[in-house]
Amino acid sequence: MLTRRKLIDMYIRFFEEKGHKRIETASLIPVNDPTVLFTTAGMHPLVPFLLGEPHPSGKRLVNVQTCLRTNDIEEVGDMGHLTFFEMLGNWSLGDYFKEDAIAFSYEFLTSPKYLGFDKNKIAVTVFAGDETAPRDDVSAKKWEEMGIAKENIFYLEKEHNWWGLAGGVGPCGPDTEMFIDTGKPKCSKNCSPACKCGKYLEIWNDVFMQYVIKSAGEKAQPLQQKNVDTGMGVERVLTMVNGLKSVYETECFKPVIEMLEKLSNKSYSDEKYSKAFRVISEHIRSATMILGDKNDVVPSNVGQGYVLRRLIRRAINYARKLEIEASQLTQLCQFYIDYFKADYTSLEKKKQLILEEFEKEIRKFENTINGGYKEFEKAVSKMQNNTLEGEVAFRLYDTFGFPIEITQEMCADRGIDIDMEGFFESYKKHQELSRSACVGVFKGGLADDSYESTKYHTATHLMLAGLRKYLGEGVHQKGCNITDERVRFDFSFDRKLTDEEIVLVEKFVNDTIDKQLDVVCEEMPKDNAYKKGALGDFGSKYNDIVKVYSIIGVSCEICGGPHVCNTKELGKFKIVKQESSSAGVRRLKAILE
Ligand code: ALA
Repeated sequence: MLTRRKLIDMYIRFFEEKGHKRIETASLIPVNDPTVLFTTAGMHPLVPFLLGEPHPSGKRLVNVQTCLRTNDIEEVGDMGHLTFFEMLGNWSLGDYFKEDAIAFSYEFLTSPKYLGFDKNKIAVTVFAGDETAPRDDVSAKKWEEMGIAKENIFYLEKEHNWWGLAGGVGPCGPDTEMFIDTGKPKCSKNCSPACKCGKYLEIWNDVFMQYVIKSAGEKAQPLQQKNVDTGMGVERVLTMVNGLKSVYETECFKPVIEMLEKLSNKSYSDEKYSKAFRVISEHIRSATMILGDKNDVVPSNVGQGYVLRRLIRRAINYARKLEIEASQLTQLCQFYIDYFKADYTSLEKKKQLILEEFEKEIRKFENTINGGYKEFEKAVSKMQNNTLEGEVAFRLYDTFGFPIEITQEMCADRGIDIDMEGFFESYKKHQELSRSACVGVFKGGLADDSYESTKYHTATHLMLAGLRKYLGEGVHQKGCNITDERVRFDFSFDRKLTDEEIVLVEKFVNDTIDKQLDVVCEEMPKDNAYKKGALGDFGSKYNDIVKVYSIIGVSCEICGGPHVCNTKELGKFKIVKQESSSAGVRRLKAILE
């Protein structure tokens, strides 16, 4: 049996022997990236280096990266979709390219020293070509040379063989994907790895990042540096190498499924219950990893906190189906802390906090869940046109704490439609937001754009201006995490701030609030923004056209926003905590009262 530990060690060693340096696993919660809530791929923290900045560890890198993808969250519960997963990856930053990358992949997949797959069971796809990039004959030829039969090499369109970050901006390029042929018969004459019939299972992806999309909607342009970015999911590989039916049979989930079987006295193989086993074990694992990340996130109604809340509450909802007390789910949390703590040390350090936050969220939802079910049943008995009213869905969300996805799922289970327009209308009325903002909130996309968090965005600009005024211009933003309750701000400075300095910065911010200054937003090319003196500490992550937010006489920063219109909206600003974040970086937490 190939274990997770052996697989990770083997992968890292293989690439170290080929001149790669192991790099640390980045946080699951990216602090400096306004474009995503979670790290979604190993390349994510490497974007500036893929674009040309030299990496301190050189041009060949390898690691295992914790990732979280929320786009398919409702699909979790089927056999294959995961929210959290570990991705093995190797990178060439302008060093080797297609041929070497393919040779490395082939060796790792087929050599008996490594994964040992039969080459005849491997199918690969390469880019078919379009107006952006030519057909990838170089990769196809290399695969053939390595020993992959011609009929197992498929040319596919952009939809299948092009990879870039969600949102469409950043480095990207054609890829070549590797699949294990399960031996099932072809489902049709055209059956290929693009098809979902289950004949081909994806095991690895080599992306040739030689393009960049600078702003949303723009065309891909060639990058000077030709990179390789690969990604291989640990759970999937364990499933395939060990000949298992699904990720839930691997060591990553099986012990937890067994715990749930004992707690519920029900069997995972009973089809009536198997989805519940899968959702609970998967969601508790993801929730534990979010809570245990070195950057703090707690359940809330915005941004990352809302994703966390959805995961925990959906698990609780499924625990009801297994007739398990929600409080018993903390045992699962405990299991995952122990399982991962050797690799991700913040889990052990934050153990108490993880369990406390988890229990708190369970208690909150338990207090209202029964009332919510009653409300739901009452509304269902009265509904018209087999459609649940949007206002009811909003009441379930607002009063009973049902994430909208849970209500949607409850409706789907019963074959009931749901008036989502009506739901957004009610939400909008309540929050005074635009419709697009409120859809954003629920998509769990970027939009931590509640009014409260918007205020914190503006307060952060004032705080940075205050810090630079009293501590000097050497102060630069290093990270920022905003919820609707506080801002956590990291900046370059190499000693503790004195009490006096804290008071001065607070006073500066509060005086600016009292001056009732307008916050003005302009869009301009990045270079003009810098010429104008705008601060912007994440140069290569910006698009060519940037937004600049100015508060006259106080602050001018490149920033995606959102911001309030006038500083008077902020209330009273207070710094509540300071600590060291890492060498040369201080961290402040501040609130608005
Ligand atoms: N970044 C590529 C992926 O996630 C390797 O598939």
